[in-house]
Amino acid sequence: MSQAVNTHITRGVDWIEADAPADQWTLAGLERLVEAIDSADRGGAAKIALHAPGLFRLGLEWAVDPDFRAGVGTVVAAIERARAPVIALLAEGARDVGLEIAVACSARLAAEGTTLQSNVLRHGLVPAFGTCGRIRDGWGEGAALLLLSGRPFPAADAQHLALVQACYRPGDDEPNGLSLVQEVSGANAARPALDPEATDAWRRRIGRSGRGRLAHQVLLKLLSEASPVSRKAENAAFIQCLNDPQHRALLHVATAEAKAAQVPGVDPALAEPVHRAAVVGSGTMGGGIAMCFADAGIEVTVLDLDEAALERGRQVIERNYAVAVQRGSLSAQERDARLARIRTTTEYRDLAQADVVVEAVFEDLGLKQAVFARLTDVMRPDALLATNTSGLDIDRIGEVTRAPERVIGMHFFSPANVMTLLEVVRGANTSPAAIATAMGLAKRMEKVGVLAGNCPGFIGNRLLRGYIQQANELVLDGALVAQVDAVLRDFGLPMGPFQMMDLTGLDVGWRARKANGREPAPSERVHDRLCEQERFGQKSGAGFYRYGEDRRVPVPDPSVDALIAEVALEAGRTRRDIPDEEVLERCLFPLINEGARVLEEGMALRASDIDVTYVHGYGFPAHRGGPMYHAEQLGLAHIVARLEELAAEGGAFWAPAPLLQQRAAAEGTFSAD
Ligand code: NAI
Repeated sequence: MSQAVNTHITRGVDWIEADAPADQWTLAGLERLVEAIDSADRGGAAKIALHAPGLFRLGLEWAVDPDFRAGVGTVVAAIERARAPVIALLAEGARDVGLEIAVACSARLAAEGTTLQSNVLRHGLVPAFGTCGRIRDGWGEGAALLLLSGRPFPAADAQHLALVQACYRPGDDEPNGLSLVQEVSGANAARPALDPEATDAWRRRIGRSGRGRLAHQVLLKLLSEASPVSRKAENAAFIQCLNDPQHRALLHVATAEAKAAQVPGVDPALAEPVHRAAVVGSGTMGGGIAMCFADAGIEVTVLDLDEAALERGRQVIERNYAVAVQRGSLSAQERDARLARIRTTTEYRDLAQADVVVEAVFEDLGLKQAVFARLTDVMRPDALLATNTSGLDIDRIGEVTRAPERVIGMHFFSPANVMTLLEVVRGANTSPAAIATAMGLAKRMEKVGVLAGNCPGFIGNRLLRGYIQQANELVLDGALVAQVDAVLRDFGLPMGPFQMMDLTGLDVGWRARKANGREPAPSERVHDRLCEQERFGQKSGAGFYRYGEDRRVPVPDPSVDALIAEVALEAGRTRRDIPDEEVLERCLFPLINEGARVLEEGMALRASDIDVTYVHGYGFPAHRGGPMYHAEQLGLAHIVARLEELAAEGGAFWAPAPLLQQRAAAEGTFSAD
């Protein structure tokens, strides 16, 4: 395809214009661009303005493919050798390789309302084309933030970071941004000096968010070397990351996220518009869910039993926003706008105008049914009725309404305003339009929506059961609490199973067991004895661990290991030293095995949806691709063989799922999709 690159001189500025969109750029187009830059410079241009919207949106394939990478390299070299300052006009913002080309220019002007975004680190790669050197010697924190998050970064905010010199209103300046181009000088020289403290801060940040990630470590190393970052070193680092299995795993996760949005038989166009929302229950989850709506620009009314409960909820919301403002991730003005979208009430009639309601009262079927009976009375007949239940039967909740096809699960994860997973649970009667609306809401909330079937625990919590059970069994068999957690942290999870149990609280199960009077299993006895000592977990300052003043840092407690040994003895268990490999296998294989069952029963649409669920909802390390992808890397046949060995000693719990056996015997992958 011919790709026009036009040039003209307007009021002393040499303009190079190419309007091909990002997906239509070719190597020949890049060559013409190089000629145009060189020729303008040779002709004595005072300033060169690059108005090529698609160029600045070139995707990562332009770095991954060697020929494309070489082509982009020639453009960057032409920009670098030009004596005239080259000014990038980001008419549609910039992303990925396009952003790196923009960063090589002397200055950048962005159209108002556009964003900058880099998926480089998210895909397990490091920047190329000299960008690492530019980060190190210039932008530091700002560029690092952009690279780290992978999220769209408003061009207006990038002005504070000197990544964008000014924003223009398309159409106001003719040609676009002309007067600004005339004003702006070769601004790269005017970048603020690097603040060593800030540099340390973002180095720490890269280190923290990149735990176990090769690309983060490689980038840090490049940036911390004393000499300038050479192109050779940068190139070697890029190739190293490109060839590493982490890049493939992260690519799998990115592809899986996009796939999760597609539900066979559900056209996204069926989604009903959502202007107003309601939330019932203003506790931990209700408050967070209200924030999700407000953050997405949707007006929301929160209902609870009384003013005191509403006030508690409001305070938590205000505190969360205050933290964001303090961190600098939210402006005070934006906070006020979001808070203004949240209203509270004790009256059901105030929910009548809402297009969607999410119920988040206590986890009790009778209570939820009573709430849904009220909702079906007051809400419009076409409103979406969602429950945030973490495990109750959606159909039982739906049966009390007049419109079970409008009833759906929208299972948020705690803290709802932070966690990026939304499990959308389809009941027997849930309509395609209801699913499309809920999936559309996930997207507006910048979450990954995953469709789950209506089974106990849905996808995520259903898989978790075997994982937690094995953690409990491992310590009875002789492993230490801190050992089990350390093994899973080393694998890449943000916390181990016992830290997780301490976080969610041990008392709920204890109270339930006291109420039903059933004889507890040995692992339950451990939990019960901890609770009898008022060790309920983080909230009471102790559980499996002791916690300091801030209730965050877990301190291993030998008395807990002694208590576990005592219970094991009473139960007649033989204890032994447990190797770390066994800890890892016994925790991970139940996830994988149950994942195969979920898949077999059609409770997840595809294996990659289970991966997305675990990466976004449970902190499974993205660079390992999720449990099902990880299983494929280990080899499904190997897992089946190990499960059979474990079943020979440990019984039916370990019996390999039929689908796992089938796939192991066939292609060795889950992904028939
Ligand atoms: P919570 O105890 O913090 O809040 C429940 C709120 O519901 C309280 O403010 C209470 O006053 C209110 N409420 C109770 N009965 C009500 C009624 N009849 N009408 C209006 N409001 C009423 O509970 P949390 O943790 O927020 O959980 C809520 C739901 O979310 C449960 O179904 C739970 O299973 C689910 N969930 C909880 C998660 C968590 O980590 N806490 C994660 C995902 C789901």
